[in-house]
Formats: sequence, structure tokens, C-alpha cells
Amino acid sequence: MKKKLENEFVAEFGHLPEVIVRSPGRVNIIGEHADYNNGFVLPAAIDKAAYIALSLREDDEIHLRAVDLKENFATTVSNIRPIEEVSWPNYILGCAAQFVKKGVSLKGFNLLLSSDVPIGAGLSSSAALECATVFALNYLLHTGYNRIEMVSMAQKAEHEYAGVMCGIMDQFASMMGKASQVIKLDCRSLEYEYVPFKLDGIKILLFNTNVKHSLASTEYNTRRAECTQAVELIKSHYSNVSSLRDITVEMLDEYVLPVNELVYRRSRFVIDEMDRLTKVCSYLEKNDIASMGECMFETHEGLSKQYEVSCKELDFLVDYVKDKPEVLGARMMGGGFGGCTINLVEENHIDRLTRDIKTAYETAMNLPLDFYIASIENGTEIL
Ligand code: GLA
Repeated sequence: MKKKLENEFVAEFGHLPEVIVRSPGRVNIIGEHADYNNGFVLPAAIDKAAYIALSLREDDEIHLRAVDLKENFATTVSNIRPIEEVSWPNYILGCAAQFVKKGVSLKGFNLLLSSDVPIGAGLSSSAALECATVFALNYLLHTGYNRIEMVSMAQKAEHEYAGVMCGIMDQFASMMGKASQVIKLDCRSLEYEYVPFKLDGIKILLFNTNVKHSLASTEYNTRRAECTQAVELIKSHYSNVSSLRDITVEMLDEYVLPVNELVYRRSRFVIDEMDRLTKVCSYLEKNDIASMGECMFETHEGLSKQYEVSCKELDFLVDYVKDKPEVLGARMMGGGFGGCTINLVEENHIDRLTRDIKTAYETAMNLPLDFYIASIENGTEIL
């Protein structure tokens, strides 16, 4: 990969890059839509990643090349702003803007991007790109931001240049991932611990619906607002409550259910999901994969019926594997409305399962089904 990127960079810009950074996509075992509610999540970085080759320029010109899309984009440092015509430069410009906002005197740069994280598949292709960009710029500009600061800069790029008010999970997983470990992250304090994730004879299998989700399609931001509404309703009775993390089912029953049933269902899902995460962590410790898998199925049910961020294609894939003994757990993953399901599957059944489900899905949904076995890898790094 390094050689290929170097060659592409030379062909585009006439010289070698000063640095090449790899930053991965992520999976999340459990804890969905918990990050922006200050709960816990359990993500991991995977073996699909965005790659950025970068060198600084003496002038203030910015030249971007997306190898896979065969597209170029150019602007200048003094003109950095979100653009409407194409989306991919926004993630990079949004990161560059964070340096400017911090008062760094940013130089122009040549940047080449390649990625094998499928776009719109719920594997955080955008967070991978943002983390790679922030890391590479931080390295070449000698700005010395630590990883946690860079996570926050990458998240802000998503808020300000992609308009998605995402939580911290995706950027955190991409930047902080460790091979063979999942990250138990407290999204309130940002305290985290690595938990070994080696399941004997079981693999993480991802099924991609090929329904492209657009988180920016307002639904994500709407869910976030609905959760805030629940907090507001309870705050007038308990002044020390500041997020769903501080709220119990009893409080919801008393103060939200009678007022707004929809907001109740949304916030009830989040509170139950926080509870499931705690259970999954203890099952993981005991290597009780079956119980862990049960929780994943419950999460899917909640995401589909209570939080309403699933779609018929995702539901089809989870229903299909539900009664298969070789599939220990499955659910939709990420923001929703398309993208992938995550499945824990016995290794020696993967070939047959993928063959069967592909035929069934493609016949029923008239869409291609892609699948990937995800391995858990390190987070952002220089190649
Ligand atoms: C998207 C967001 C994350 C998180 C998930 C849902 O991936 O970027 O911050 O909210 O959805 O868990």
C-alpha cells in the first residue's frame, strides 16, 4: 500500500510525500446511539482504512486528489470553507479548519487520499478520513496535539463541515484502536479501557446491505434532539440531570411517558442499551458469547422498533440469521437507515452462510449483498 501511494503521489505532484498515515474504520459491538447521550460504547478499529499521503507546500494552495474516485479539488488556506458540490473534500477541509481555528499558521499542502472503507456502510469511512488528515497535519506542522485532542478535532470537522452532530465514538475508535482489543469508552469522562476480544472459532462478519445511508439526512440529528427533549423534561424535576446517562427508567415513566410517547420510546431505547452494554462487558469477561449475542439481537430489536433507525434490508439480514445456531449475535450497526449488520459467526460455517444469505437477500431485496470478515487492528498510525 505504501509503495502504491508513493507512486500515485509522485505521478500527481511530482515529488514523494513527507508522510503517509493509515486510519481505520470501526465496528461497534454494542452501545449504539449511546455516545452522544454520555453513555458507554464498545467499538474497535478494523482492517479497512483510509490512507492519506501528505506534504506541505511553501504557498497557501491546497491540492487534493482522491485516487479511488479519480477526482481532484483545489483551494487555498485563506478560502477554507465547506463546499456543496462534492462531499469528500469537506472532511479534509473541515480538519484543516480546526488547525486554523486553534491559531496555527497553516501552510498549503498536497494531499492524496485512498480508502478501502466502504462509503455509507456504517463503518465510519468519514471518521477514518478525518483522523488520518488531522494526524498527518499534526505530524507535519509539529503542533503536538495528543490523540484525544485530535479525536475532538476530527469530530468537530464532522459537525462543522458534514453537518452531522455525531458523538465521539467513531473518531475515538479510529484514532485509539488496538489490535485484538475492543475499547470500553465512557463517553462522558472519556476514560477508556482496552478489553481483549478473542473469541475462539468465532469471527466478526459484516453484511453490507448496499443501502447507502446519509446520516446527514436529518434523522440522526433528529434522534439526538429527541434525546435532549427527554433530558429537558426531567431536568425540571431533577436539576442535577444533564444527559440520558443520569436518567432512570422510573424517571422516564413518571415524567416523559405521560407527556410525549415518541420521546419516551427513543430515550427508553438508549437507557436499555446502556444497561445491555454493562451486561455484555460482564459476559465478555466470562467468555459467555451466547448471552452476549442475545443482547445484540435485543439491540437490533430496539433500534428497529423503538429508535426506528433500521430499514427493511437491515431487518431482513438480522431476521435471516436469527435462528441459525452458528450465528451467536447480529444487529444493525452505526447510525442506521442502511449500511452493515455486524454478526458473530462460527468460523467454519461462514462460507455456507454467506452463500445462502447472499442468494436470499439479492432475490428478496434486488440489491447486491457484500460481506467482510473484520479483524480488529491498531488505530491511526504512520506507515
Ligand atoms: C454514527 C455516529 C456515532 C454514533 C453512531 C451510533 O456512527 O457517527 O457518533 O452516534 O452513529 O451509535
